Amino acid sequence: MKSIVFNVNGQSVTVEAEPEKPLLWVLREDLGLTGAKYGCGMALCGCCTVHLNGKALKSCTMLAVQADGAEITSRRQFAIDDDDDVLGKPLDLKEFLATVKRILERSGR
Ligand code: FES
Repeated sequence: MKSIVFNVNGQSVTVEAEPEKPLLWVLREDLGLTGAKYGCGMALCGCCTVHLNGKALKSCTMLAVQADGAEITSRRQFAIDDDDDVLGKPLDLKEFLATVKRILERSGR
């Protein structure tokens, strides 16, 4: 376990987390901030996006220990209601696959 200190939505928090635990799961499981969702786990869909020191990033592929000392803004801070947030809706596999297909087509793959 590693002690991690960061500022989340204006509040200083300290959590104990495994060094290999992604930031997304520390936010969701340890801090109860469920605005960031798990979708692909591969930095493709954006469901897990948070702002770290003012820059948007995918929290599914970033280790929580890498956020030590950082300022994090989650979707809750922006007062997005999970019930009417498009990215917050339960993942529909067909929609997800169509999104991945569009991304791959745009990137020329
Ligand atoms: S869960 Fe899809 S980008 Fe993180």
